[in-house]
Amino acid sequence: MFDAIAPHYDLLNRVLSAGIDRRWRARAIASLELTGHEVVLDVCTGTADVALQARRDGAARVIGVDFAGAMLRLGLDKVCSAGQSGRIALIRGDATNLPVHDASVDAVTVAFGIRNVERTDAGCRELARALKPGGRLAILEFGVPTLPGLRQLYQWYFRYLLPTVGRLVSGHGSAYTYLPQSVGAFPSPPDFVTLLRQSGFTDVRAVPLTFGIVYLYTARRAP
Ligand SMILES: C[S@@+](CC[C@H](N)C(=O)[O-])C[C@H]1O[C@@H](n2cnc3c(N)ncnc32)[C@H](O)[C@@H]1O
Repeated sequence: MFDAIAPHYDLLNRVLSAGIDRRWRARAIASLELTGHEVVLDVCTGTADVALQARRDGAARVIGVDFAGAMLRLGLDKVCSAGQSGRIALIRGDATNLPVHDASVDAVTVAFGIRNVERTDAGCRELARALKPGGRLAILEFGVPTLPGLRQLYQWYFRYLLPTVGRLVSGHGSAYTYLPQSVGAFPSPPDFVTLLRQSGFTDVRAVPLTFGIVYLYTARRAP
């Protein structure tokens, strides 16, 4: 599915979020408090937007991992155009079997990817395995706004308008119907916080962004 939607993925991100997706990614990277020396692992990197943002905001090196070859090829074009091929490596691999050694990276990011990983618990444990003790985690994932009125409006947009625009632009019948379904099936913020704690993280926080349309989960790898 991700290979099929890859050619229109970036355009649809910008249009369907009215450009706010860039701010969400920048916020996630800012939470890592990078100093210029860190190796960042971006899991479910897709077309490498987070990897590029991490380099702009202070990562020494970035490793991006994704299992969709077509997404990675587009990401690689962007990395090369930005002159970052010496600093950003994109690797094809699975989030539940990351191609990195134990405790080998300073920070881990996952933007809009963790809900797609079939075994969420195994994926979270794998993120903890890759991180050095004390290393920072930043996960962006969709939520549902709680504000009455906005909640109903957003649900109409997310369930009806977004899948229609997504289908017309991408030409893919089900990918943008899968999006609201997968968000509905993902644990609630308190449940996901609990899962992260059980997976080896400490200082776990869930911060609502843009009225809770998106949550930024931050944590540290427990010592
Ligand atoms: C919605 S996209 C997000 C891409 C990117 N992080 C961003 O912010 O735009 C989700 C990505 O997760 C990848 N993905 C889903 N499950 C995966 C898994 N088990 N292992 C590796 N990548 C996975 C997909 O191929 C896709 O590129």
